[in-house]
This record gives sequence, C-alpha cells and structure tokens, in this order.
Amino acid sequence: MRRAKISIIGAGNVGATTAHWCAAAELGDVVLLDIPATEDMPKGKALDLRQSSPIMGFDSAVVGTTSYDDTVDSDVVVVTAGIARKPGMSRDDLLATNAKIVSSVAEQVAKTSPNAVVILVSNPLDAMVQRFLQVSKFPSCRVLGQAGVLDTARYRTFLAMELGVSVEDVSALLMGGHGDTMVPMPSCTSVGGIPIRRLLSEERLAEIVDRARKGGAEIVSLLKTGSAYYAPAAATAQMVEAVVKDKKRLIPCAAYCDKEYGVGGYYVGVPIILGSGGVEKIVELKLDEQEQADFNKSVDAVKELVAAMDKLMAG
Ligand code: APR
Repeated sequence: MRRAKISIIGAGNVGATTAHWCAAAELGDVVLLDIPATEDMPKGKALDLRQSSPIMGFDSAVVGTTSYDDTVDSDVVVVTAGIARKPGMSRDDLLATNAKIVSSVAEQVAKTSPNAVVILVSNPLDAMVQRFLQVSKFPSCRVLGQAGVLDTARYRTFLAMELGVSVEDVSALLMGGHGDTMVPMPSCTSVGGIPIRRLLSEERLAEIVDRARKGGAEIVSLLKTGSAYYAPAAATAQMVEAVVKDKKRLIPCAAYCDKEYGVGGYYVGVPIILGSGGVEKIVELKLDEQEQADFNKSVDAVKELVAAMDKLMAG
C-alpha cells in the first residue's frame, strides 16, 4: 500500500515541528519545502529529522527541498510559509506580506498537487485560507485552516490546570475567527462528562476563556523572537492524521461557510467532520443568543480582514 505523501511548505518553526510530529507518528512520507535565503536549510532539517528515525523508531521518509517537483501529487499539503509575529504585532499585521507568499504557494500547489487536501497555518489565518482558495480554485472542501484545534487546546490546557485534572478529560469547543474575537462555547465544554458550569463560576470561566483568546500573544511576549510552534504544529498534525487515516474527527477548523451559520462565503472556525475528502460536513449547532452575537462579531472581523486583503491584492 502506498504511504500518504505529506508536503509541508515553509520549513521554519511551525513547518519543521509539524514535520517532526507527522514523521514520528508515521502518518506518511514527509516533504519539507522552503524558499529560504540559505538554499540548503530544508535539506539540513529534513536529514537531521530523518537521522532521528532509528532512535525514535519510525520509517517515514523525510525529504528537504526548494523545488515543488518533489511535492508532486501530495495527498496533504500544509502551508506554514510566511512571517511570524513579534512582540507588539497582531496577526493582522502580517497580512500584506503573507498574502503575497500564500498566493505564490497556491499557484505552485495548484499545478503540482491538484488533488491534495490543503491545511493553511500561516496567519492571519482566516484571510490566508481565503486567499489560497481564491488563487488555487480548489473545491472549498479541500482547503481549510488550522486554528480551532489550537485555540481549543489552549482552552483545554488552562481548564485542566485550573481544575487539577487530566487534559484527556477536558472536552471543549471554541468557534469563530482565529483572533481576539474567537467565540467561547461553555455549553459545549465538559470535564469527565460534567458540564463546565457545574465546576467553575462564570467569572473564572470568563478569565480562562480570555487567556485562551490571547494565548498566542502570551507566547509571543515570552519568546520575543517569534510565535508559538509546538502546539500549532501538534494541532496541524492532528488534522493531517484525520485526513490520511480518514478518521472523521469532529473538530473545530476554519472551514468555508456559505449558507452554513449564515456566514455568506468566508472562512470561520466551526465544528466539522474531517476525513480523507477534507471537510466532509460542517456541523451546524443552534447557538444561544450570546453565542450568536459573539459569532456575528467574529465573522464581521473576518470580513473586514478579507476586505483589507482583497484591496491590497488588487492594488
Ligand atoms: N515559500 C516557501 N517558504 C517560504 C516562503 C515561500 N514563498 N516565504 C517564506 N517562507 C518560509 C521562510 O523561509 C521560513 O523558513 O516560511 C518559513 C516561516 O518560518 P518561521 O519564520 O520560523 O515562522 P513560523 O513560526 O514557522 O510561523 C509561520 O505560521 O503560525 C503561523 O503566524 C505564523 O504566519 C506564521 C507561520
């Protein structure tokens, strides 16, 4: 049986760490592509990772390259190319630079891996995934963004720390855009099956949600030279696994919503079923009044960001 082919575009912190998680879990053979200032960097990282395989016990091939020829006919393409945030920057400050980079990546991927499921990670996420769709002209079910798994993982981590319980027992969902307007869903948060509101006060829950919302900025302010990568990469690898193993995971991702949730043709974080075809279903929940108001606000922020991007790219 042919192993899955996973190409990761951008071999920086998030890309290389995603390659690491994917190879170690034997999700498939990994191609790590970068257009770096120093040509051999992706080859060096890939060879180093491959040399860990006898110790870690995995048989995935890992190849580093600067040529899309090596990515031909990938089953999954992960896009992490672009610049990362520095302290004081919002994700939106990356818009102009990363929109150009993602456009060029989309052109190449459309030519070389026309049947791939594509997972965007570059920020500002909700706009970058829209840009990839515009340029590649892929069906929207095969282009999606990684944000919700990470945001929800941050929220789950903080809840587990607060309650002194295993992270495995915390089940949760956050929706909306990947930014300060993301939407908490306490009605979809439980610990060992117990609804969260029976374990924590509204005030404490609101504080934890707020920390999760600003989870990326907290890491940027600590690292000072870039943004988070272990958790973003782990979240991406979970999505890759769902596709290559056709797992039908029900997880939050940035998916193209048209009629769904009344969004009208934008990417926004919603619960989906993720399998070998990409977004196999968008799960539509009935939101309560507060959730709906928060969701609408988040969608408006995404629309503003996309409008700013479209203006930049047209000019
Ligand atoms: N094609 C391929 N690779 C590119 C291109 C391009 N056109 N342009 C830039 N790159 C590469 C850079 O050479 C660099 O190695 O993308 C890589 C980005 O790596 P880092 O600077 O380490 O950034 P990282 O932390 O990995 O974040 C990448 O993911 O989470 C988001 O906000 C984050 O937008 C950022 C992206």
